[in-house]
Amino acid sequence: MQRGKGMKFVGDSRVKINDRMPNKPKDYTEYPGKTEAFWPDFLLKEWMVGAVFLIGYLLLTVAHPSPLEAPADPTDASYIALPDWYFLFMYQLLKYSYFSGAYNVLGSVVVPGLAMGALALMPWLDTSKERRPSKRPIPVAIMLLAVSAMVYLTWESVDSVNWEVKSTQGKITDKHLGLLPDVEVDTKSDGYLIYEANSSCIGCHGGDLAGVSGPMLLGNELTAEEVQEVIVNGRGAMPGGMFEGTDEELATLAEFIAGLKEQ
Ligand code: HEC
Repeated sequence: MQRGKGMKFVGDSRVKINDRMPNKPKDYTEYPGKTEAFWPDFLLKEWMVGAVFLIGYLLLTVAHPSPLEAPADPTDASYIALPDWYFLFMYQLLKYSYFSGAYNVLGSVVVPGLAMGALALMPWLDTSKERRPSKRPIPVAIMLLAVSAMVYLTWESVDSVNWEVKSTQGKITDKHLGLLPDVEVDTKSDGYLIYEANSSCIGCHGGDLAGVSGPMLLGNELTAEEVQEVIVNGRGAMPGGMFEGTDEELATLAEFIAGLKEQ
């Protein structure tokens, strides 16, 4: 038997097969030398192309690892949470007064629902046989409007974020990797109790002194005088004058923090 005998070229599935039509597909045997065994010839070629993409993605993943951040920290209120870039337009929509607050359902359910619903119902809403964009002004106008709204909202969202601050957030630190310096913290000591009573310190430096938005205090390289200086006057992103307590307590706290040296 000739190879491919009885096989038909597969046509466009959207076009109805009509056996009475003169241009019905020819039998495969009319294309000598154009047939090929599915196994292994065809599959081998498919797999080779598949392998090229697989290795390509593999290399891309190695060259550009996913931007993982430290585990979410609910005590860090300064963290700027953002969705991935392709959802920024929906996120931006929720910032406008008629799509947020009391109207939140409008921005989060109704508007996206209408848009996705219209997209799903497109075959029934738009039954025109015409394919040229110029002959289908309404669907084309709606689509252009939607695309420009998405571009505009994404732009606005990107523009409203302080990316310099954002880039310093969510860093995976030694703390997250369990690589804390070997420092023993006596949580019963007066120094720790004073630290604990100053909840603002804990908010930025953590109850374990391993840092939150502020740096880790374990294994610091400061003397008691320098610690006191930082607490009173502040430094960089740390405001001064936040300490609540007596001068004596301040001295005890400074002594305690300066004593958090590696064993
Ligand atoms: C708003 C957040 C915030 C608060 C509140 C805060 N700090 Fe800080 N702290 C920081 C930041 C940020 C730095 C790093 C400053 C820099 O970059 O120079 C820092 C630095 C320090 C340092 C120096 C650490 C080093 O290794 O150089 C000490 C000590 C310190 N803070 C103690 C305290 C104490 C004690 C309190 C409470 C009275 C406190 N901080 C409150 C954010 C804060």
